[in-house]
Amino acid sequence: MTENELIKKAKEAMNRAYAPYSCFRVGAALIGGSGNVYTGANIENISFGATICAERTAVFKAISEGESKLKIIAIASDSEDYIHPCGICRQVLAEFSEKSLRVLCSNKKGDFREYTLEQLLPNAFIDKGGK
Ligand code: THU
Repeated sequence: MTENELIKKAKEAMNRAYAPYSCFRVGAALIGGSGNVYTGANIENISFGATICAERTAVFKAISEGESKLKIIAIASDSEDYIHPCGICRQVLAEFSEKSLRVLCSNKKGDFREYTLEQLLPNAFIDKGGK
């Protein structure tokens, strides 16, 4: 799958967002270690803290289906600006990826900027308690 195809999948997922409070819809699409694609959208809640971002929706879908070692994630929104994952999502991505994870941050037009997770979350906390 090309980068542009993955961004298209993220855009399609964005159309399934539930964002009545912020009216900011986000979509994500990722490829797991198996090569399968998983998508996610942000799902908000009237108890705002229960809201989940698009990226974590996609990650949790993938992990709960048995994936590990995520390879690449694309993020899309309707913003003119490039959308970058929030801090919590960066930490969650670090839990399930190598620091070489590719992160494609797109804008409304479909242009994208590519980063590694290491660039977005340098010196990530990955200590697993000595295990
Ligand atoms: N949001 C995401 O889904 N991903 C991001 O990378 C940034 C923010 C969502 C959370 C909330 O539903 C809305 O966008 C506004 O913050």
